[in-house]
Amino acid sequence: MTILSDTYGRRFEKLRVSLTNQCNFNCVYCVGKEHVPGQMIQSARSVQQSESSLQLKDYQAIISKIHQISPLKQIRFTGGEPMLSPHLISLIGFSKDLGIKNVGITTNGWYLERKMKELIDLKIVSLNISLDGISNEFITRMAGHSQAYKVKETIELAVSAGLPVKLNAVIMKGKNEQEILPLLEYARNLNIPVRFIEFMAMGHLHHTKSNYLFSQNEILDTIAARYNFTYIPRTKSSTSEYWRLSSGDTFGIIANYTTPFCHDCNRLRLDSTGKLFGCLSSTQSISLKSRIADDELFKQALAEALGHKQQIQFTGSALSMKYIGG
Ligand code: GTP
Ligand code: 5AD
Ligand code: SF4
Repeated sequence: MTILSDTYGRRFEKLRVSLTNQCNFNCVYCVGKEHVPGQMIQSARSVQQSESSLQLKDYQAIISKIHQISPLKQIRFTGGEPMLSPHLISLIGFSKDLGIKNVGITTNGWYLERKMKELIDLKIVSLNISLDGISNEFITRMAGHSQAYKVKETIELAVSAGLPVKLNAVIMKGKNEQEILPLLEYARNLNIPVRFIEFMAMGHLHHTKSNYLFSQNEILDTIAARYNFTYIPRTKSSTSEYWRLSSGDTFGIIANYTTPFCHDCNRLRLDSTGKLFGCLSSTQSISLKSRIADDELFKQALAEALGHKQQIQFTGSALSMKYIGG
């Protein structure tokens, strides 16, 4: 079998599957004013009812077909908020049965407690939980949800249950940079990594990069004021670079703008309506629904998606993460 790859030698090895474009949070960098308070999606039932959403069998057919054409090393379930989807647990099992060992989830953590037992049984290998501050005030402001601070308790439960948790903290200039050190302290106490993420200009903040970018160097300077650390060589295709503190704890930075990582990007996205996105920085998509039954058309769709990748760096997107799957 010839493996699909582009002129940079990039191929799809990591599939990010968005299970819904709905979310019960209202993060400032993602949803903004688009969300109407009081109309939060609170139940998995309401998500299931959306007509254009893929059904379980569609997800299964698409994932196995992608895996046949471009063998996957990893799959990550995202959203919106993936725990609002009734398909999450079945699809984790399904992916493992296909032989994809590295299965992860990226979540806001709100619904995690009720899924914890199943996730432990399924032995998921990565659980990335968003937390953009430590004080209640910053957490609620960043998440746009008055009780978002409760997620900290769930994070602590998940860590003590042995789940493989990492924290994702989006840092925005003028909004939450003072939370960098408290976040690092919190993660150290729990013995888990935190990754600080450079704000990405997407969706309603598409043209605001210079207003909010708090760069990798600024994050490192903030940490250097209290800690000594050394750089850990980057793993191929990783979004994050990592550093080790003298205590042995590690932290990461995902620096889309100041240390771009497109050159060895191996990611492919499927949204919850059956559209394929080859790049987070592109609004171009390819609908798979009509191609599921035709191997040749399906393969062409993957080749086309590969052609959508950026050459150097993320350049922004009019789509917010909520729709394109984080
Ligand atoms: P690990 O497998 O644990 O390393 O997770 P991950 O970093 O691949 O995924 P996660 O869902 O935790 O995403 C964290 C951040 O990585 C996002 O907020 C984005 O900033 C960035 N990111 C994820 N995927 C992509 C991508 O394909 N392109 C770009 N430019 N950034 C991405
Ligand atoms: N910039 C950076 N990170 C973002 N995320 C969502 N929107 C943005 C943005 N505009 C993060 C979430 C989650 C991950 C999937 O993406 O906080 O951790
Ligand atoms: Fe890959 Fe596009 Fe993200 Fe670059 S911007 S890392 S090419 S998905």
